[in-house]
Amino acid sequence: MKRVAILISGGGSNMIKLVESMTGDHPARAVLVASNDANAAGLQKAAQMGVATAAIDHRPYGKDRAAFEAELLKPILAAQPDILCLAGFMRVLTPDFVGQFAGRMLNIHPSLLPKYPGLHTHARALEAGDTAAGCTVHEVTPVLDDGPILGQARVAIAPDDTPDTLAARVLVQEHRLYPAVLRRFAQGDRAPLIL
Ligand code: GRF
Repeated sequence: MKRVAILISGGGSNMIKLVESMTGDHPARAVLVASNDANAAGLQKAAQMGVATAAIDHRPYGKDRAAFEAELLKPILAAQPDILCLAGFMRVLTPDFVGQFAGRMLNIHPSLLPKYPGLHTHARALEAGDTAAGCTVHEVTPVLDDGPILGQARVAIAPDDTPDTLAARVLVQEHRLYPAVLRRFAQGDRAPLIL
């Protein structure tokens, strides 16, 4: 049984779908939900689902990312995860942290990578006049939003879309894609899944 730790920063809607998916004959189980914000609403939801939680506030560490990550690593390593899932986790991780989970850390990003790494992906797609948007699950490597693609789901852009209406439709696809990719990944299948 693979052990999965999930990192969040906010509501954790993707985390909830991941935790809910890991039941029955699923080859993995959630063992920890950790956040850089003690007030992240997802932490309460994780606890309600019976998953251990941890919160390490990044603010006291200022620009010292390494010091923050050293603290964040403590509950993560104590949970002994096989796989680390970033799900709405909004802190950039150092290459050193990423290196400790090389080949076993996933992230979901709300664009069709390699287009629009970084923030404000939907506004950028609309600004560019794109006709499609979507989300990507990828392996996390030291370069932000850049690792091997494990899955993608596309969403048509409507003429009257705003960043918010588009984000809402993409989020629905994120909630389908991430659990499906995690299940395959936990079974050692890294072939890209295109929904
Ligand atoms: C989602 O758009 C996700 O793609 C991005 O963070 C946003 C919020 O995710 N990584 P969640 O609701 O906290 O899972």
